[in-house]
Amino acid sequence: MTIPKILVFAGSIRTGSFNARLAAAVAKELVRAEAEVSLISLVDYPMPLYDGDLQTKSGVPKNAINLKRMIGAHHGVLIVTPEYNSSVPPLVKNTIDWVSRVQDAHEVRGQVFRERPVGIAAASEGRLGGTRSLAALRLILTACRALVVPNQLALSFASEAYDDMDRLKHPADVEALNALVRQLIDVSQRMM
Ligand SMILES: Cc1cc2nc3c(=O)[nH]c(=O)nc-3n(C[C@H](O)[C@H](O)[C@H](O)COP(=O)(O)O)c2cc1C
Repeated sequence: MTIPKILVFAGSIRTGSFNARLAAAVAKELVRAEAEVSLISLVDYPMPLYDGDLQTKSGVPKNAINLKRMIGAHHGVLIVTPEYNSSVPPLVKNTIDWVSRVQDAHEVRGQVFRERPVGIAAASEGRLGGTRSLAALRLILTACRALVVPNQLALSFASEAYDDMDRLKHPADVEALNALVRQLIDVSQRMM
């Protein structure tokens, strides 16, 4: 089977972000499962808050176009999202909103998400591990017609979830991570 290219990013640019830490752990596991991985940070793709007037006046920001093309250059995507007030943070929604407005030549608007395999994970210090944020993100991406794989990882009590080697220490988390990674690779390979 051909090796799939997977793009990984976290929906937080906070120093010490639990979701950035989990994104790095997921990226490591994807590499172990023999995917080719690009781990990026949204800090390198700053975008203004979506505003239709701004789009009419100035077009879609360059960073949204760059990120859209980055996504398009990969077979699958893995997004690790924080949970804010039971949903996705504005950074995640705003990024998806702008990217969904990009329309390159011979494409429909938002084509980059269509039939693209996407895996989702979340990390939170709470007991639910960002489960509600995952439900919201799944809804958003499904509306963009992405193929959101059924397996997902909600990492509870994220500050205590790792061992000294920076590996997830609870068997249930390890199992969920492996299942997510395996399924994303499998679906990405089938869609290549
Ligand atoms: C505005 C706001 C709302 C939040 N709401 C929730 C929530 O609904 N559920 C939850 O588990 N954590 C919530 N948190 C706590 C975040 O999970 C926590 O700040 C987490 O560290 C953010 O992710 P990061 O570490 O990747 O930046 C909230 C934090 C903020 C700033």
